[in-house]
This record gives sequence, structure tokens and C-alpha cells, in this order.
Amino acid sequence: MSDMKPPLALLAELTHRCPMRCAYCSNPLALDPSSAELDTATWCRIIDEAAEMGILQIHFSGGEPTIRKDLEILSAHAAERGLYANLITSGVLLDEARIESLARSGLAHAQLSIQDCEEEAGDWIGGLAGAHARKWKVAEWLGKAGMALTVNAVITRHNAERVGAMIDLAESWGATRVEVANVQYYGWGLLNRAVLMPTREQLMAMTKVVEAARERLRGVMVIDYVIPDYYADRPKSCMGGWARRFLNVTPSGRVLPCHAAETIPGLVFETVHDRPLKAIWADNPAFERYRGIAGMPETCQACDRREIDWGGCRCQALALAGSAEAVDPTCEKSPLHEEVQALAAREAVSGHRDIVYRSFSLEKSDPSGKAR
Ligand code: FES
Repeated sequence: MSDMKPPLALLAELTHRCPMRCAYCSNPLALDPSSAELDTATWCRIIDEAAEMGILQIHFSGGEPTIRKDLEILSAHAAERGLYANLITSGVLLDEARIESLARSGLAHAQLSIQDCEEEAGDWIGGLAGAHARKWKVAEWLGKAGMALTVNAVITRHNAERVGAMIDLAESWGATRVEVANVQYYGWGLLNRAVLMPTREQLMAMTKVVEAARERLRGVMVIDYVIPDYYADRPKSCMGGWARRFLNVTPSGRVLPCHAAETIPGLVFETVHDRPLKAIWADNPAFERYRGIAGMPETCQACDRREIDWGGCRCQALALAGSAEAVDPTCEKSPLHEEVQALAAREAVSGHRDIVYRSFSLEKSDPSGKAR
């Protein structure tokens, strides 16, 4: 294992606390309470371990990471250790002074989410009145502080017709990159799938809009485009392959290969208190389980795209086929592929608008706990 390549990036989920209640949040349904969060010293030690194992980037995420008052300490520590530090934020807790303080601390880049380009619709999906309006100021302050900006435009069937306007908004904010990110169905997003899923026609129309914008903005702004893979014929290369490119540390210190890994029964994950990151990455059995070609279902092992999509997504295979060992049903080689596409098409016209908002108490927001 000594010649194993390190992950490219560490996703540091500093907290699950967040003033927003996004319908699409990929955090687990059982959120870590603030009392379980790692302290500053432990996060600094994790950053040291990440740098020592050759990780190049750290993404401070959550929840809303700016809730943590020690974010400047952590970003300064990451910069000192040579890590490129990125902040993934909704922006709603930021003011100009905090942004200046974060920029001074060594934070190099911010990824600001938008839920729409219309206030009422954006605040509805995000579950927080006033959130949308705040983002204009935040984008301006980030620019003034000299921080590179990516806009993460989250797409559902409720804003699919406004993809072009959201790209224009990101351009007007001076973003160097925009992610046109259709919701991926994990965590709260999976629970709200019938509320969020776009139609295939919406997807085709937005693809044309994205292609035209890419042409127009070549050399000005990069546009990443993530589709709802239920409509795809081949799966996405989830996380660039299980335990291949990315490492997640949860607010309470569990070390995972992806944000949804704990949904897979039978996998035992270690925490940052058990062993150093490098050792966990190298030989934790749960990381080994689906790693590389040997960890793929047989169909994927025999596929000529096995080193392109890396067998798709194990967590999605579990969610849609009932087994993490199955071929990801978003792949046309899965016997469930047509069924999944039909499910998406059905949900997209279901008319559901009854969001189960993200909260620390699922029972409170939806006593049935059922997906709809
Ligand atoms: Fe876990 Fe895709 S989210 S492998």
C-alpha cells in the first residue's frame, strides 16, 4: 500500500449546522449535532495529516462552514501547510468584514450556491426567507476581497427554464466558473426527489442553453454541467471512483470515501481518533471494498468504460437497486435502467411540491419519514 496515490482533495465537513434548509441537501438524514463537532486543534491535526500524505486541496464545507468561528484559523493553517483552501458556502451568514478576514487568512477561493435567480423560488427551495437577496452583496464582497469565485447553480424542475439567466447572473458577478449542477439524489435530495426531478424535455432544453453559453463565454467563464443521471445512459464517475480521488471527514470525525457512504450497510468506517488519515486511506476495509476495478460489479469490470466511470456510484446502486454490489441503475447495462428512467419521468410530472426541509429532527418535518 506504500505506493498508493493520495487523494487529490479533502472535503472537510466542519459542521452540519446551517441556517438554510435546502430541499436537495446531500447531508445525511441523521445530522451530527454541534456537541459532536471536532474542535479546532483536531481539525488542525487533520490538515497536517492531509498535507503530509500529499493532499493538495481542502474544501471547507458543511452544513454552513462559516458558522464555525475558527474557520480563519483552519484556512490559515491549511495555507501554511500548502493546501489550496476553498470555501463551499450559501453565503447567508457572511458580511464584508468576515469575507475580508477570511481572505486575509489565506482562503483562496469561494464556491457560492444559488438556488434560483428569482427570489421567491430560491427562498422556497432553500427554506430560508431572505437568503436569495443576500447573495448579491456576498458576491460583490468576495470580488472586492480578491477571492476567486465559482457559482454553484442548483437546478431542479422549478428553475430549469432559468438556467440561462443563472449563468448570466454568475457572469455579472465576475465568477470564473459556474457549476450548472442538477440535483443529485442523496440524503435530503433523495427524500425530496419527486419534488425536484426535472423532465427529460427540460433537461434537453437546458443542455442546449448550456452549450450555447459555453460557446459565448469561452475564455471568460468555465461552465461545468452536471445532469440528473437518472436520464443518462452511462453513470457518472462518482467521486472519480470509490476511494480514488477524494476523502471526506464528517463534523464528528468519521472518515469516508464519499458523503453517502454510511448509507451502505455493513461497512465500518474509522474516525480521525482511531488512526491517521493516511492509514485509513491505505487499508480501511470499507475503502478497499469498492476500490478500483477489483471492487466493481462483474459487468463493470468487463466494460470498456471501467476506467472512465469507475463503476458509477455504489450509494446510488444501493438507493435504486437495493444493493451497493449492483450495477448502478443509471447505466444502460443495468437490468433496472429502463425502470429508473420511467421512475424519473413519472416523478417529474407528479406535481409534488411538499418539501421535507432539512432539519436536525426528521420526525418533526415528516413524521412518516417516507420518500415521496
Ligand atoms: Fe457514494 Fe457515489 S455517493 S459512491
